[in-house]
Amino acid sequence: MTRRSLPRLLALAVAIASLAAFLGTATAQDDPVDPLIARAQALFEPIPEGHAELEDNPYSEAKMELGRMLWFDPRLSASWAISCNSCHNVGMAGVDLQPKSIGHNWQRGGRNSPTMLNAVFNIAQFWDGRSEDLAAQAMGPIQDALEMANTPERAVETLKSMPGYVEAFEAAFPDQADPVTFENVALAIEVFESTLLTPNAPFDLFMQGDEDALTQEEKDGFELFVNKGCVSCHMGINIGGTGYFPFGVVERPDAFILPEDDLGRYSVTNVEADKYAFKSPSLRNIELTPPYFHSGSVWSLEDAVRIMGDAQLGATLTDDDVAKITAFLRSLTGDQPEVTVPALPEITEDTPLPVAAPQEDASASAD
Ligand code: HEC
Ligand code: HEC
Repeated sequence: MTRRSLPRLLALAVAIASLAAFLGTATAQDDPVDPLIARAQALFEPIPEGHAELEDNPYSEAKMELGRMLWFDPRLSASWAISCNSCHNVGMAGVDLQPKSIGHNWQRGGRNSPTMLNAVFNIAQFWDGRSEDLAAQAMGPIQDALEMANTPERAVETLKSMPGYVEAFEAAFPDQADPVTFENVALAIEVFESTLLTPNAPFDLFMQGDEDALTQEEKDGFELFVNKGCVSCHMGINIGGTGYFPFGVVERPDAFILPEDDLGRYSVTNVEADKYAFKSPSLRNIELTPPYFHSGSVWSLEDAVRIMGDAQLGATLTDDDVAKITAFLRSLTGDQPEVTVPALPEITEDTPLPVAAPQEDASASAD
């Protein structure tokens, strides 16, 4: 299959799905649904209230509370300065508003930090999908030299040194003799993340039958989003997060937006077709999570939409199209989670102390 035929094939799939939705409404006798709502329902799904169910990791209040403590605890990092929340701020739609996150010793990472809100619904985690789920994902940043720069052993030693944590692990994993493990850290964080959902976006209310939840401009934008073919890569409950697609299917963006040294999904699969392929990001809450793309190179949502039109569809969008599509994307902002910041257990004499920054970093500002 050529690169150019991909959008056409996808557009065909969308046309079939839309037709199916149309026929669905045509045969429904009793309760005629607005055809646009039926079309939305056929392609997307509203975010539920409450939490998402996880396979092999059942929800409990105790696990959620432990996960929330770990989420906010910078002592999981070598420096005691960086927590998950540093780069995925729950009060800022789960991001840090940085092109590339700042991690251990002020180092910048290689990619933009995506949000963990609704991430439980993504096909896999990270821009290249290298972690299959949130639990596998959570073990990454704690050990990443550019992020929290810790080791699993030191993280567990740190947690075991604080009676408050030992009790919290015992409550969260009541059947285990030695529950303070690195694996359980990941499972508890995953349960906390499964609660970070954003229901009730205007578009969700529209899908649930409220015709007035969207303005006319947003409805027009939704139609353009479907008809132009954006939906072929951004579909399902997260309006994205369902698969991997080359960035630059039709036209390669410049090297600032698509740096040549980041091969994306190829680094996971070693398959030629996956070069420069990335997970199609969820577009939920997208207005709150600039800058955009894995390179964090574009601050304006309008510009990101225009670039998508050129790079992925070969369809130059008019200013009016861009304004309408962007208005639709703004209707994907849901209720932001209200999270209570927990009081964290006190350190003891047994707690390994933070690793100091190297001397040259400390003196850098004096030069
Ligand atoms: C120094 C900043 C930083 C810290 C600290 C950090 N992350 Fe991340 N996180 C990132 C970046 C950058 C990515 C994207 C990396 C990639 O795709 O290669 C990411 C990706 C993710 C994703 C994937 C989301 C998706 O849609 O693919 C999740 C979930 C996540 N982080 C959760 C966590 C958790 C849990 C912690 C704490 C244990 C944490 N992060 C700590 C920067 C950070
Ligand atoms: C062929 C698949 C494909 C099509 C078609 C497509 N996208 Fe994308 N979209 C992607 C991928 C892959 C990315 C991630 C690119 C990257 O950063 O490497 C992306 C990223 C984005 C982003 C930035 C998200 C973020 O969190 O940084 C926005 C906004 C977006 N797309 C909107 C659209 C719109 C609007 C359309 C239609 C005009 C569209 N996309 C068409 C695959 C696609």
